[in-house]
Amino acid sequence: MSRLTVDGEPLEFRPGQTVGAALMAAGILSWRRTTHRGAPRGLFCGIGVCFDCLVTVDDVPNQRACLTPAREGMRIRTQEGTGHDQL
Ligand code: FES
Repeated sequence: MSRLTVDGEPLEFRPGQTVGAALMAAGILSWRRTTHRGAPRGLFCGIGVCFDCLVTVDDVPNQRACLTPAREGMRIRTQEGTGHDQL
């Protein structure tokens, strides 16, 4: 198992998993809230089309969790809206 962090907390993942798969496997179903209504978002399409799964990866906001391969030491942050306010 490899390890990344989510909002500073360690999370183990299997090699080959995407960030979205690692989050879901850990029981985390939502990691972003929409700008206007604060509605929770996570994986929806799972193939890079809907952009619901946006997350901040190593201080870069708006990365699609469903397409981003998980890497050892990666720092994932849940995101509010566009994620730019948190930088
Ligand atoms: S779940 Fe749709 S783009 Fe990632």
